[in-house]
Amino acid sequence: MLKAANPRYLALAVLVLALAYAGFLWLRGGSGEPALSPEAVQGLFLKKGCTNCHDIRNPLVGPPFEAIARRYQDDPAAEQKLFESVRRGSQGKWYDPRSTTTYGIRRVMPAQDRKKISDAELRAMVRWILKREWRLTEGR
Ligand code: HEC
Repeated sequence: MLKAANPRYLALAVLVLALAYAGFLWLRGGSGEPALSPEAVQGLFLKKGCTNCHDIRNPLVGPPFEAIARRYQDDPAAEQKLFESVRRGSQGKWYDPRSTTTYGIRRVMPAQDRKKISDAELRAMVRWILKREWRLTEGR
């Protein structure tokens, strides 16, 4: 039986609770929203329709995520730039915007508003691309 009044047990209990709370905050990513696992972020690309035009390694309508990660790997402003490209749309950075695929789809990146993708989701998706986090989900 624990002697509840023993101050050493109390100090230990406080320490354990503090560590648990710190761990909880760390898991939430400190942003007030729960941090998304790489699997969850990968699922967002399908859910939000990005995979209709993007693959990790193969060019579809848009450039492969691997090519995007490579192009921006030494750019310290990459995260913000890609965030804006997806939010506001993008054209002319990768392809001639007048060009089309064999199915006649124009090679432009459509803007994605907040009703469709929250800021937190979009930031997580851009980081996932830049850090090549698909590697974390492979081979599982
Ligand atoms: C209709 C097809 C289409 C869809 C849907 C689409 N993209 Fe794109 N995406 C493109 C094309 C085409 C480009 C190249 C645009 C250019 O040349 O500037 C592109 C470019 C990008 C880029 C690079 C932008 C840059 O500044 O270099 C990122 C990042 C990106 N897409 C992410 C996404 C995400 C995330 C989604 C899902 C929310 C998505 N795309 C949905 C077609 C699409």
